[in-house]
Amino acid sequence: MNAEERREAWRSLTVIEDWLRGGIRKERIEPDFESAAKAAAGRAAASAAFVEGPAGDSLEAVAAEVAACTLCRLAGTRKKAVPGQGVAAPLVMVIGEGPGAEEDAQGLPFVGPAGKLLDKMLAAVDLERDRNCFIANVVKCRPPGNRDPAPDEQAACLAYLRRQIALLRPRVLLCVGRVAAQSLLGTKEGINALRGRWLRYAGLPLLATFHPSALLRDESLKRPAWEDLKMLRSFLAETSGGAGAAGASGAESGKPPGDG
Ligand code: URA
Ligand code: SF4
Repeated sequence: MNAEERREAWRSLTVIEDWLRGGIRKERIEPDFESAAKAAAGRAAASAAFVEGPAGDSLEAVAAEVAACTLCRLAGTRKKAVPGQGVAAPLVMVIGEGPGAEEDAQGLPFVGPAGKLLDKMLAAVDLERDRNCFIANVVKCRPPGNRDPAPDEQAACLAYLRRQIALLRPRVLLCVGRVAAQSLLGTKEGINALRGRWLRYAGLPLLATFHPSALLRDESLKRPAWEDLKMLRSFLAETSGGAGAAGASGAESGKPPGDG
């Protein structure tokens, strides 16, 4: 992004931030966009974002296999499997935990109340499922009563998600909620510890944040979730010069992912 684009993005972010705060505009000192733009342009470094799937694989093949899958007990209670939805070369792949009632009925991810909020959160940082995102879940079939997917169910379903990640090669993985973050990262750390910093999975930058249904239950989580979205926004802006080019942070930017 050039300096003017950065300034525009910053201004619209402050509007949304103030809106989240209750509509009162706050005075702010503008960051130095000229230096930030120059620094980012000078730094473009190659990224190791590289993951492999089976040769000849396709998103359609994954979706067809998911629709017919009986690898775990969730096959017995689902109405429709929910393979995922979005564009083929997304900036961001959003990963939730598993379909709820509405998703199970429609066969589409995040179409219930949490999904409506997710769409708004994404829109605030210029992301949209039909334009530059792909949305999927750790398990593709609904756990009855919206319970957490069991470890063996997650394990059974993980190969589908891995294939999707390999096919999509998103610039960033965004895990929404504890279950998705723990499942991908193979950790028992809570979402409070995992969110708000850059992590990696399969060679890709991964950011975790709160699940939109947690935001619906607890308003106080909106502020930190917004901070996470701003990190995502900054990273995408820093890397927009070329797919995978990782720029370093400016004063208002997210920290770029390391190789950890
Ligand atoms: N919650 C999720 O984690 N995924 C969905 O698809 C819907 C709600
Ligand atoms: Fe297969 Fe995943 Fe559905 Fe289990 S949840 S039946 S592994 S698609």
